[in-house]
Amino acid sequence: MEKDFLHIDDWTRDEILSSLDLAVEVKRKLKNREAYKPFKDHSLAMIFAKPSARTRVSFETGFYRLGGHAIYLNPADIDVGNREPAKDVARVLSGYNDLIMARLFDHAHILELARYATVPVINGLTDYNHPCQIMADILTLKEHFGRADNLKIAYVGDGNNIVHSWLRLAMRLPLHFVCACPLNYPPDQATFERAKQAGVSTVEIVHDPLSAVKDADVVYTDVWASMGKKHELEERKRHFKRFTVTSELMAAAKPTAVFMHCLPAQRGLEVSDAVMESPAAIIFPQAENRMHMQNAIMLKLAGKG
Ligand code: CP
Ligand code: NVA
Repeated sequence: MEKDFLHIDDWTRDEILSSLDLAVEVKRKLKNREAYKPFKDHSLAMIFAKPSARTRVSFETGFYRLGGHAIYLNPADIDVGNREPAKDVARVLSGYNDLIMARLFDHAHILELARYATVPVINGLTDYNHPCQIMADILTLKEHFGRADNLKIAYVGDGNNIVHSWLRLAMRLPLHFVCACPLNYPPDQATFERAKQAGVSTVEIVHDPLSAVKDADVVYTDVWASMGKKHELEERKRHFKRFTVTSELMAAAKPTAVFMHCLPAQRGLEVSDAVMESPAAIIFPQAENRMHMQNAIMLKLAGKG
């Protein structure tokens, strides 16, 4: 197993599947309040260059529940790449901590952090990808549909970091993944080509949400303007007009289709309030699973899973 978890395809298919099984087992232990403290006397450094609700609370609570201590470092504390280079931060924090989780802007910074850290580094989102999110998403799908593969996922919206992680998952598990995005907001072409070349899944980029959701098991969306791009929102609203997930769009998917969103959501933009509140929405189990999935990821990396 790789030292770090920076992209979903850092793990083999078997490592992904066994981590899902571990997440289910550890989730059950925590729900039953079993005495299970594998991270006793361990610490986790959490570096945040961007805001966060789910990532911060799920990592901090999860690590605590497993017996460890998590340290929150806010954007002003470390300021990777400005106040101090990633390679220095890596070696300093490795001297104090057993694990490092980082949410950064520049993907190159997390690669540098991992290269120089002597302890495992986990990607808590960069401008490029968000692997912990998509791992939690497939745990949620496994719970809901009984399987994490052979599903049609129709993503409607910006070709962003979430899409890149879906594409990299599609290199490992067979899926039908369709990204319906406006013409000028596609995902990274090289990542798309790699996912296609891997020959494991069917992956497509299209520009019509209605045809994309046909036969979909999952309709997924995310904000139109990600962190770091919020100033573009007004302009983006013009390009994304046809890309709101509405009840009408959900009705064009399979009758059994679920709605997912990594959150935070901007209701009335990428998704309607009605869809967020509908029985098809599995967004809150999805959010809860961040903690269970990340617990499994941390246990695997620490050699405890
Ligand atoms: N989904 C997610 O990563 O949420 P936060 O930005 O609140 O951590
Ligand atoms: N694409 C979003 C995901 C937030 C969890 C962002 O990067 O802001």
